[in-house]
Amino acid sequence: MNVVRVAIAGFGGVGRATANLLLSRRDRYRRVYGTDIRLVAVCGSRSGLADADGLETGRLDALEPGLSGPEFIEASGADILIEAGPSDFRTGGPGLAYIRSSLSSGRDTIVISKGALVHSGPSLRAMARSSGALLKLSGAAAAALPTLDLIEHSLKGCEVLEVEGILNATTNYLLDAMTTQNLGFDEALGRAQAGGFAEADPRNDTEGWDTASKLILIANFGLDAGLTMDDLVVDGIQSITEQQIEAWRKEQRVPKLVGSLIRTGGAIRAAVGVRTYPLSDPLAQVSGKNKAIRITTDAMGETIAIGSGTEPLATAAAALKDLEHILTARAARATAGS
Ligand SMILES: NC(=O)c1ccc[n+]([C@@H]2O[C@H](COP(=O)([O-])OP(=O)(O)OC[C@H]3O[C@@H](n4cnc5c(N)ncnc54)[C@H](OP(=O)(O)O)[C@@H]3O)[C@@H](O)[C@H]2O)c1
Repeated sequence: MNVVRVAIAGFGGVGRATANLLLSRRDRYRRVYGTDIRLVAVCGSRSGLADADGLETGRLDALEPGLSGPEFIEASGADILIEAGPSDFRTGGPGLAYIRSSLSSGRDTIVISKGALVHSGPSLRAMARSSGALLKLSGAAAAALPTLDLIEHSLKGCEVLEVEGILNATTNYLLDAMTTQNLGFDEALGRAQAGGFAEADPRNDTEGWDTASKLILIANFGLDAGLTMDDLVVDGIQSITEQQIEAWRKEQRVPKLVGSLIRTGGAIRAAVGVRTYPLSDPLAQVSGKNKAIRITTDAMGETIAIGSGTEPLATAAAALKDLEHILTARAARATAGS
């Protein structure tokens, strides 16, 4: 049986969920792809584990100090890297070195953190093209909500004219709570933090940066746009007042934090900010921690997807969807080469 070795760099909530889901699906990979998937290495910032025969679930709690870094992953002999470290779009974060090292040596790479892709997306794509490695990023580009998959598969051949996305679950929850439960911003945020789905420092979400990051990934990887954060106007929800909410309620309009892309005169303009929708608009119905995307194309009109899932499982599943696409592509490559 064909053996494919997988390593995971970044072993927090998402990295661990990905490892556990991957190990629980090994029978599926054997059955559907005729492939023995082995998890050969995992690492956090300072510790890790490696075993060329494959790690099992019971061993993943005892990481060994000193086993970390791109060289550690390189030495593990992995065929595929899953990167799930912290996200920092200003520097690229620690993921950047792992992804560069992986792509430059021709290793298929699944990226879950957004930072490196926002910071250096075009150069990472070029690196993948030149080494022949596949670069996948469903986990980074809104995870359980399909975004790039819709553009690359479902709408293939169409020209995308416009994208509107409710891409951040935390801000959607906050706006929903402010609108439907009459909570102020601080009270809604306190509830989200107590529920564990808003960060202690929520500004990356509430000021719109997380939405902007996902929008850049959709634009650059889905539409070949070449945008940087400097090209975007980014507004968040932190300054929304109870008076504004009340006025929107009277007008029967629902506020959403939306990342938007519009194609005008050959260029793509991008922005993040609050838009309001009438109750009849499907985007007005996207409640709680759900996310949504509306893509308008020249030939297929409007396509809308609404999705969510329990984290971190949903993000792990998005990354492993990428893994299955890679297994399919590898099988096609092997058939073409034989
Ligand atoms: N949580 C979600 O629902 C969700 C959804 C979509 C995308 N994401 C993205 O997924 C990524 C991981 O999220 P998370 O919730 O799992 O975060 P987390 O729990 O904070 O885990 C981050 C992991 O990265 C590790 N790390 C830091 N520096 C590293 C380095 N230099 N080399 C190797 N590993 C390093 C940390 O190691 P230590 O443990 O040693 O510090 C930790 O294991 C983030 O980029 C996030 O934006 C998360």
